[in-house]
Amino acid sequence: MSAAENPATQISESAVSEALSAALAAIAAAPDAAGLKAIRNAHVGEASPLAALNAALKDVPNDQKAAAGKLVGQARAQANQAYAARETEMVAAEQTAQLAAESVDVTAAASRTRIGARHPLMLLQESVCDAFVGMGWEIAEGPELESEWYNFDALNFDEDHPARAMQDTFFVEPPEAHLVLRTHTSPVQVRTMLTRKPPIYIIAPGRVYRTDELDATHTPVFTQFEGLAVDKGLTMAHLRGTLEHAARLMFGEGAKIRLRPNYFPFTEPSAELDVWHPTFTGGARWIEWGGCGMVNANVLRSAGIDPEVYSGFAFGMGVERTLMFRNGVHDMHDMVEGDVRFSQQFGMVV
Ligand code: DAH
Repeated sequence: MSAAENPATQISESAVSEALSAALAAIAAAPDAAGLKAIRNAHVGEASPLAALNAALKDVPNDQKAAAGKLVGQARAQANQAYAARETEMVAAEQTAQLAAESVDVTAAASRTRIGARHPLMLLQESVCDAFVGMGWEIAEGPELESEWYNFDALNFDEDHPARAMQDTFFVEPPEAHLVLRTHTSPVQVRTMLTRKPPIYIIAPGRVYRTDELDATHTPVFTQFEGLAVDKGLTMAHLRGTLEHAARLMFGEGAKIRLRPNYFPFTEPSAELDVWHPTFTGGARWIEWGGCGMVNANVLRSAGIDPEVYSGFAFGMGVERTLMFRNGVHDMHDMVEGDVRFSQQFGMVV
């Protein structure tokens, strides 16, 4: 088939300019380097109308060859140039975008691994312990899963004493094991007296459990610290002096304490301990801080200590409660929910 018979390869000005415009339009419309590559063969490469026109040159009569060759050659050069220019432009744009996407801001603050921080409750517990360690006391511990005997019996709670029911106890199965989640840190008193000889001066911080619902002022798991001193000749005056000193260390020099008569099975006499400070949130006032008293002779006897030779005093306070009125925390939820913003308010870098 000759060029003259094939309209697609007729070398006329209009055929050339049509093929060129189609090529230029396709090049301009390619959305990206990949799109441009895809139209290459059809408009600039071997399968393009311009290539077909070029191939048809061989059939053009000799006297017209130069003019036709020039026409087709210029068009092909123009298409190639447009393609190359667009390709350069696109590769450059894509490289710029890639560099921007991969760029690193060397001036940005380094991302820090969060190592966590002590909880304000733990810090307070430690500062309570520090106050007593500073007076020469030692730290003692006991288990949270405790036998009923240590938690109640040895502390002079009668089998059917109402005080046993006073504390809402988590009893642990099976019943014959007589295990409870300790309802207070007082069993550590007995454990200590059974394992050490007087003089005893211990502070026992730790978690305790009661069947309370979590609300603004209660939580089923909370923290207490227990104090026990057993020595020759200890009196209520020693108890008072010790607690007043501790209150000043914990709340500041202006702190005062007062004792109000109360009942606990493990102390006799027993007292409720109140603390007063001029800067408490809500103004200078008395706040109930904990319980205390002289260790009941029956408790000393349960622990194998002769009450004719030794006497002792004891006290127990709640750490959460202390944090509440010491630092103006109004809701127990804030202490137990583990929101780092709570710790941050205490200056912790979490
Ligand atoms: N164990 C008591 C409670 O949880 C607090 C307490 C009162 C502890 C008097 C004592 C004490 O050591 O002497 O309510």
